[in-house]
Amino acid sequence: MSPAWNKLQASADRLRGTHLRQLLESENRFDSLSFSAAHLMLDLSRQRIDSQVFDELLELAQERDLSSAIAALLTGAVVNPTENRPALHSALRMPADSELVVEGVDLVAGVHETLAKMDEFVAKIHSGQWRGYTGRAISQVVNIGVGGSDLGPLMTCEALSEFRPPEAEGVEIHFVSSMDGSQLSNLLLELNPETTLFVLSSKSFGTLDTLANASTAIDWLMESSGLGRELLIHQHFIGVTSAPQKAINWGISQKNILKFWDWTGGRYSLWSGIGLPIALTTGMQGFRELLAGAHAMDQHFASAPFEQNLPVLLALIGIWNINFQDIHAHAILPYDGRLAHLPAYLEQLEMESNGKSVKLDGELAESRTCPILWGEIGPNAQHAFYQLLHQGTERVMSDFIVPARRYEGRSAGLLEQHQLALANCLAQARVLALGDAALNDSEERPPWQRYAGNQPSSVILLETLTPASLGSLIALYEHKVYIQAVIWGINPFDQWGVELGKKVANDLIDSLHQGSSSGYDQATSGLLATIQKLQEEH
Ligand code: F6P
Repeated sequence: MSPAWNKLQASADRLRGTHLRQLLESENRFDSLSFSAAHLMLDLSRQRIDSQVFDELLELAQERDLSSAIAALLTGAVVNPTENRPALHSALRMPADSELVVEGVDLVAGVHETLAKMDEFVAKIHSGQWRGYTGRAISQVVNIGVGGSDLGPLMTCEALSEFRPPEAEGVEIHFVSSMDGSQLSNLLLELNPETTLFVLSSKSFGTLDTLANASTAIDWLMESSGLGRELLIHQHFIGVTSAPQKAINWGISQKNILKFWDWTGGRYSLWSGIGLPIALTTGMQGFRELLAGAHAMDQHFASAPFEQNLPVLLALIGIWNINFQDIHAHAILPYDGRLAHLPAYLEQLEMESNGKSVKLDGELAESRTCPILWGEIGPNAQHAFYQLLHQGTERVMSDFIVPARRYEGRSAGLLEQHQLALANCLAQARVLALGDAALNDSEERPPWQRYAGNQPSSVILLETLTPASLGSLIALYEHKVYIQAVIWGINPFDQWGVELGKKVANDLIDSLHQGSSSGYDQATSGLLATIQKLQEEH
């Protein structure tokens, strides 16, 4: 394929019989394979690499001209050619006194105008000045969105809920995403329409799932109040979108729209107005700290040499595991319950970005690309799927994510619980790497009590979980995804793979409405007919 790729292949052959246990015996391994920047430490010492592989991965980085690729991303070149646009999520976190001119326009000025408008919305809601149709202050906010318009804010709100300032206490945030209405139907039973505000979050403002939930929400408001649609939408709906005219056509008043730009991908959008629920949770101050944390990672990404560059190294390790170690499952294991939604968030970020088999030049990718990601809060997953990690037949790479400090100033019991979580995180990484050798005894065990080990993992250690360190962590993964895409030659910023299903669902909804089942493959027609019969019988 290329000189560095061939060398890595030869190294994979050379290391085939070497166990991680042996690699971990080399001197200074932890010091030479752990790297710190922007509130985080990345420990790669439990990866199946030696110093030669490390150097060859860096050679691959040079060979693929990652420096130019990073500059192209951060300066607004068209890195998303199938949609003919840049991907400038990094511009959303640039400080107000900076500048990024793309095609003659300073994007930073526009970003900060939107942040100022967001600030106004947050202040109005927090101070009780945003009032519903009876004049009562809004106390419940429901974010209606899906994919990137849901997972980013949901994950971040959950992670940062303890950073809630006093003025945010009176406002509860809810998330509704699923098109089947399950979440909304339960919520509507509890909420008071007089004090509920809906945030309609949709980059395209055309996603059926979101519009279906929005339509049920406005019907509920109309039925409860007896008032007209227009007035209710004006008082009870905010729109966050890159298609403001569509939001206006739906009925949202211009002054209630937070606009963002088509150069912000859906799964990269929590830094834009899509982050409104985050700002309502943490206050604008917390939201700005989140942006600053991500910006610190952007700066590190832009300037650090590759041998210390966290996103580049995280990406290269993934390439090594996927393309040279034949590992195609990736577990995301946070040892902090506040990061419960991080696995789901990263599933979209990575798999919707890099789940591609066609390269930018239209040819089929000659190597494997994005693995299957999944995950769960680590301590809970220990009691669920770790059995497979330790004794299954699948090779799996894992990311352990954990803060060093937590519960400062809280009870001794909680402090102890954090130590317990840390001990378990370290124990699992150790056992996955070493297997039986993690226990320093010579006891004979039957085969079913043996641990092969040699499962690679990375540890991402946060000093402590704050808006800034979370911002940095998310930006780390965003940039990792980009670097891998560059190496594979694919476009991480489109998602054509989700379009066909949407079109076919449109045909099927027509068939369901019309009671017809013909014109499809046998399996689909058969199921349609069965469903229609069951619906008629009732
Ligand atoms: O269908 C996939 C997708 O386009 C995601 O990329 C996106 O995050 C989600 O749908 C929601 O899209 P929108 O924000 O336009 O409603």
